[in-house]
Amino acid sequence: MKLNQSQIQEALLCGQALVFEEIDSTNAFLLNHYQELEQGSVCLAESQTSGRGRRGRTWYSPQSENVYFSILWHYPKEEVEQVSSLSLVVALIIAESLQAQGVKDIQIKWPNDVYFQGKKMGGILIETKVDKNGVHLVIGIGLNLGMTKVDEKIVNQAWADLSAYHFDRNALVCRLAYELQKNLKIYPLVGFAHYVERWQSFDIFHGQAVKLVTEGQEIHGISQGINEQGELLLKQGNEINAFGIGEMSLRPNTQTEN
Ligand code: ATP
Ligand code: BTN
Repeated sequence: MKLNQSQIQEALLCGQALVFEEIDSTNAFLLNHYQELEQGSVCLAESQTSGRGRRGRTWYSPQSENVYFSILWHYPKEEVEQVSSLSLVVALIIAESLQAQGVKDIQIKWPNDVYFQGKKMGGILIETKVDKNGVHLVIGIGLNLGMTKVDEKIVNQAWADLSAYHFDRNALVCRLAYELQKNLKIYPLVGFAHYVERWQSFDIFHGQAVKLVTEGQEIHGISQGINEQGELLLKQGNEINAFGIGEMSLRPNTQTEN
C-alpha cells in the first residue's frame, strides 16, 4: 500500500504532511525548507537517493515498504540543552508505536538505534539549524518495514525488517507522527526523567558486558541502563560511571574480563 498524504495529514496535530515518490533525503528537504514550513511538518518518501545515516554514513533507502520519515520541530534557544537526550525519546516512541501495532521483540540500542530480534531495523538522525529564532530540529527516522535484500556494501552489519507482520504502513506512520508531535510538545515541560523507566524496558544490553568504542579508545563495563539525563551507566569494577551521548558506538563485549 502506497503512503497516503491526506490520511497522514489528518493525523497531525500541527504542520503539513508532504509525501514524495522519490527524494534525495527527507531530512535534507526539511532542512532546506525549515523557514517556510510550520512546526510539526512531516516529509516522507517511498525511496531516497541519498539517504543519510549518522556520522556521514549512508542509509540504504530503496523503493520497498520501508518508512523514510522526517519531522520538523522548533525549540527556543533556552531549551537547547534538553535536545541531546531527545533522540532516546524518539527511539522510545518508535518502539512503543511498533509494539502497539502488535510487533514483539523490539529493542533499543543506546542511544537511538531500533532493533528487531537483535538486528538493526531502524535508525534516527537528528540534524539542526540554529538561527536568531532558536533551534530548528529535523528528526529523521528510517524503518525497515518491508525490505527483502540490501546492498551489502552499504549495510555492512546484521539487519532486519518487519515484513513478517504485514501491517498497515499508513496506520503506523499516523500513530508515529501523532505520538511524536504530542511528546515533542510536552518534552520541555516533563524532561527526560518522564521517559527513563519506559526506555529501560526496551534496552537491548541491560546487564550485559559491553564496550563503548570511540576514536582510539574502548571503554568496557556492564551495562546498567541509563540515568535521568539519558547517559549510559556502566558498572566498572565497584563503580558505576555515566557516559554522555557523543561520537561513540555501543557494542557487545564478547571478551572475557577479570
Ligand atoms: P553506532 O551508532 O553504534 O555506530 P551503527 O553501526 O548502526 O551504530 P549508524 O551510523 O547509527 O551506525 O548507522 C549507519 C549504519 O547503518 C550503516 O553503516 C549501515 O551499516 C547500516 N544501515 C544503512 N542502511 C540501513 C538499513 N536500511 N537498515 C539497517 N541498517 C542500515
Ligand atoms: C542511522 O542509524 O544512522 C540513522 C538513519 C536515519 C535514516 C533516516 S531515513 C529518513 C531520514 N532521511 C535521511 O536522509 N535520513 C533519515
